[in-house]
Amino acid sequence: MSKDRQVAIVTGAGAGIGRAIAYRLAKAGYAVAVADVDANGANRVAQELRESAGQAEAIICDVGNKADSFRMVEEATEALGQIHLLVNNAGIVQLGPLANFSEDDWRELFRVNVDAVLFCCQAVLPGMVTQRRGSIVNIASWNGKLGAPNFGAYSATKAAVISITQTLAREVAAMGVRVNAVCPGIIAETAMREKVQREGQAYGLPTASERAKIIPLGRLGKPEEIASAVAFLVSEEASYMTGQSINVTGGLWLH
Ligand SMILES: NC(=O)c1ccc[n+]([C@@H]2O[C@H](COP(=O)([O-])OP(=O)(O)OC[C@H]3O[C@@H](n4cnc5c(N)ncnc54)[C@H](O)[C@@H]3O)[C@@H](O)[C@H]2O)c1
Repeated sequence: MSKDRQVAIVTGAGAGIGRAIAYRLAKAGYAVAVADVDANGANRVAQELRESAGQAEAIICDVGNKADSFRMVEEATEALGQIHLLVNNAGIVQLGPLANFSEDDWRELFRVNVDAVLFCCQAVLPGMVTQRRGSIVNIASWNGKLGAPNFGAYSATKAAVISITQTLAREVAAMGVRVNAVCPGIIAETAMREKVQREGQAYGLPTASERAKIIPLGRLGKPEEIASAVAFLVSEEASYMTGQSINVTGGLWLH
């Protein structure tokens, strides 16, 4: 292991946006812990990263479970060294109107999209504070900044992620740790987008190509474009930025 190689954890890195973030960080020289509940996805991405000369470790975990997220950080530290960067990317979506949204679905959304962010931050922060150095990026969503019918529960989780980002950033700024969020718009080539497309039909939601027509840049985003924003936020180029929730939406959302 190279002594000066920095170490990143990316949750939900076994597929989609998380996979693209893991690749981007490996390219920037990070050793990457690929943390995912899906063992096949995590192992495949870690293997691909190692083959492209990166250093990577697959860690199978359910980040919505506190003990599991703490074990994940412990194993990542043991395998790769002290953690410099955490990307809380793992997430799920469930559609439906709030008026009759199921309690089980509501709790599962908050468990995976919100509890996990808190637990993983709590697990990495002691090490970062001791080093007086660290960076956390939470993947929220433009949906966390607006009310959209049938996305109400998901939007509430992402609004919570933005709020956690703001408070935590102020709590740990003096300890050398920066905390920011990226708010993706509509991102193609992901299982989440396919699920929304498939299940959205029942609620009369627009298709991907119909949505593209209302995006000022005229197309859906790519996972790599979210990864680029993460790479910027964790770099020295963003050394004066903390507590921010950056939109990467092709102009779809401006606030
Ligand atoms: N795709 C989009 O259009 C879009 C838009 C805005 C925000 N986002 C956000 O980006 C993030 C990534 O989304 P994506 O589109 O790549 O989704 P995806 O479904 O393609 O990938 C999510 C990954 O997270 C993993 N995961 C799910 N639950 C987990 C758990 N409990 N513990 C560990 N890993 C778990 C899955 O196994 C999967 O590998 C999510 O937080 C999502 O809310 C996505």
